[in-house]
Amino acid sequence: MNILSIILNASLIGKDVTLPLPVPEWILIVVLILMFLVHILFINLMVGGTILSFFYELKSKQNKNYRILSEEIGKTITVNKSMAVVMGVAPLLAINTLYTKFFYTANALTGLVWILVVPLVIVSFLLIYLHKYTYKSLYKYPKLHISILGGALLIFLFIPLIFLTNINLMLFPDKWSVVKGFWDALLLPSVFTRYFHFIIASLAITALFLAIYIGREKFKFEEKFDQINKQDLQRRLYKISLHSNFAQYIIGPINLMVLPSIGLKHDTLFTIIGGAIIGLIPTYYLWKETKAESNKVGKHNFHIVISLTITILFMGLGRHLYRANAVQLYQNEMAINTKKYLSELNNAKIEAKIKEKEAAMKGISGKDVFNQKCVMCHAADQSLVGPSVKEIVSTYRGKNQQMKDWINNPGKKRANSSQMPAFKGQINDLEMNALVEYILQEK
Ligand code: HEC
Repeated sequence: MNILSIILNASLIGKDVTLPLPVPEWILIVVLILMFLVHILFINLMVGGTILSFFYELKSKQNKNYRILSEEIGKTITVNKSMAVVMGVAPLLAINTLYTKFFYTANALTGLVWILVVPLVIVSFLLIYLHKYTYKSLYKYPKLHISILGGALLIFLFIPLIFLTNINLMLFPDKWSVVKGFWDALLLPSVFTRYFHFIIASLAITALFLAIYIGREKFKFEEKFDQINKQDLQRRLYKISLHSNFAQYIIGPINLMVLPSIGLKHDTLFTIIGGAIIGLIPTYYLWKETKAESNKVGKHNFHIVISLTITILFMGLGRHLYRANAVQLYQNEMAINTKKYLSELNNAKIEAKIKEKEAAMKGISGKDVFNQKCVMCHAADQSLVGPSVKEIVSTYRGKNQQMKDWINNPGKKRANSSQMPAFKGQINDLEMNALVEYILQEK
């Protein structure tokens, strides 16, 4: 990205929404990072579960037990899907409030396909339920049954591309003016590498989850399966997880290389490389599990889960730092625009007030007020009930305030004249100014 395109596109950034954040910014950032990880974890389990369930149902031709396994995995998919949806609300709201302009612009630019997420999600969710509840009734139609899951799987594999395109596009405002819709934005650097990173993570996490899930006493593996050995299956699942982990060590660096360098500051690199180094620990224990003797399978589950969680936290933080760095320049620009806007707004308000006052003043004439309220007792040259205006002017020239005080609360001065009535509360400030000016300019 060059300076010129930054300047050109700064104009696209405009000003921020001038509403205050509902809570301090750091709380929203913590919510965004942590809840997104929880959300994506369940998404991983949903997508990975669908892939593995599909895979085992394919294999059920050779061994009927795999159909049972596919069904058991299917039971977890719908639960994980519901968790993923619910857990997705908080990060979505947080990203909306923190990166409003960036996120909404990306939404608008990928318009139709972005909205398509909603019907796609509905259809895929209905398909996984249909699939789950027809294991028995469609037993005689295996092809039809697996096609239902295949349909859901295709949708599940497509939706992440929409999200990744959007999330990627919001990071690079310099692309906003050149990108023409979703399919164009899809080709932005790193969309596909991030996509494979995600799919492989789904496999790594789901295979580990299933190895632990079927390993529990409560699962009663031996009652359900007569042709598959529990530990064999667990070791194979650990192996899937292990190989997926290895694959991340290839796709991860490629990902870093194709990401625009604007977000790759030291903090991002340290965090991500730190995470990758910590990630060697769960990889090691996974390898131990694939080699474990039957009575020891599952011994390292705790270590794997803890070290993997720490790895994921580092990756999540690195991801946030990258985003924060990538949009920094634009956020600064936006802050300046917002300030400018607010000060212009303020000036306009002041100007409007002055104009309003002027207009009000124009409508009030001191002469009218005098004719309505004073003329019956005060004449120009001679004294009536009260002294003449000439006399009043000679007493009060240059003493506007004193005269106002008198009009509001007259005293008693002349022994042989009556008391002047008080006008306090009957003449407003504007009228009073006009009145006094009118009287005192009279010669
Ligand atoms: C009901 C009759 C009456 C009305 C109406 C009246 N005045 Fe008077 N005004 C008087 C009298 C009587 C005096 C003399 C009072 C005194 O000397 O004690 C006076 C005195 C004054 C004085 C002179 C005070 C001084 O220090 O010598 C001013 C100024 C004055 N009036 C202004 C006004 C203005 C302006 C209005 C209209 C808003 C007004 N008056 C309406 C009866 C009236």
